[in-house]
Amino acid sequence: MTSLVLTITETLRYRGKLGQWAWVLHRVSGFGTLVFLIMHVIDTSWATFYPELYAKAVDAYKTPLFTAGEFALVALVIYHALNGFRIALFDYRPQWWRRQADAAKLVLLGTLVLLVPAFFIMAGHVVSYYNERVSVFDLGLEKVIEATAPFAIGTVVVIGLALVVSAGASFIPSLNAPKKQLKGSKMETFMWSFMRISGVLIIPLVFGHLAMMHLIQGVFDLTRVGHVPVFTNLGPNMEATLTAVNFVRLRWDTMLAGVYIWRIYDILLLFLVVLHGFNGLRYIINDYIHNRVVNRALRLASFGTMIGVLVVGALAILQSVPATTAEMLSQTSQVLIETNVNLLVR
Ligand code: HEM
Ligand code: HEM
Repeated sequence: MTSLVLTITETLRYRGKLGQWAWVLHRVSGFGTLVFLIMHVIDTSWATFYPELYAKAVDAYKTPLFTAGEFALVALVIYHALNGFRIALFDYRPQWWRRQADAAKLVLLGTLVLLVPAFFIMAGHVVSYYNERVSVFDLGLEKVIEATAPFAIGTVVVIGLALVVSAGASFIPSLNAPKKQLKGSKMETFMWSFMRISGVLIIPLVFGHLAMMHLIQGVFDLTRVGHVPVFTNLGPNMEATLTAVNFVRLRWDTMLAGVYIWRIYDILLLFLVVLHGFNGLRYIINDYIHNRVVNRALRLASFGTMIGVLVVGALAILQSVPATTAEMLSQTSQVLIETNVNLLVR
């Protein structure tokens, strides 16, 4: 904790110019996006497991407070993506290192160039929603607290449990022995490359997702009766209740060339952003928390949450596969297995 306080005060004091602020902004934007992502994947999984809760969550997404957060989120993702691309590119090109300051300026300029039209289009969605459908302006504080409180409580509980387990683990001698350096460094080298490769792969996926949810259509369209979700072929969303749940269903049930295109897209996005984001969180924890018990507890809590988010997110996508398709797939795989067995026996 003292290390965290020291970092904040020293960051403000240190005159490291643009490079230092680029580093701070990259860290803050990565962390902020990860916090949103954890809530977002759990919320989205409710479309499959608890439809009423999903409808409530999306209702909170439409409040002015969340709308402000949505603009901030888009800014964070765009900056982090461009700056991450700069880091990845320059790390493999040492001959360009003396141009780092120019590249950091270019990232800021690129962020502005993308943000101005993005904010303009997003503002258009917001204005049309408030003009057409809202009679009373309500900040929606109550809905926002209701939507976020379970996550705040969950965070405290998970960290509390992890602290107990970590304190208990202090009594196991083998867990407290110094780590073998070689094994650790091989793993770290792999993760270093993974952060750069996954980051670059995430760019088209996350930009595509944001374009579909904020630009081509807006967050408010999730609950609009008669709206055709973008890049779907199952007709308009005519559900009067649980409209948002049906929006997700229309997207996940859309098939292109015989495949559930949006399920595959979301699974890829899910695994890449979650593994990338939580490994980034591990760097942050290791940088600031040096007390052995607390460090282990936070890494444990973060690892447990990562597994939870992956499992819940993937199950939501897979479990909602229509029963007929699941039966078809199981029959097809049965036929394939039998054919293979017959071939082997012959
Ligand atoms: C959109 C494309 C993205 C790119 C190109 C990208 C790239 C990068 C790079 C190159 C790093 C530095 C890794 C290192 O220091 O070894 C990084 C760190 C990080 N990223 Fe991303 N990233 C992207 C998306 C995301 C998303 C969606 C999240 C959140 C879920 C995220 C969360 C983080 C975090 C928490 C860190 C650690 C920050 C730090 O150590 O200061 N990133 N990213
Ligand atoms: C407020 C902004 C956002 C909205 C309104 C939104 C909306 C949605 C919706 C409606 C779905 C359901 C499936 C679909 O239609 O494809 C979904 C799924 C998903 N979104 Fe977003 N999205 C937002 C931002 C983001 C960001 C910034 C990320 C990545 C950092 C992200 C990552 C995901 C993932 C991984 C899934 C799959 C979830 C699961 O497996 O349960 N979303 N999003």
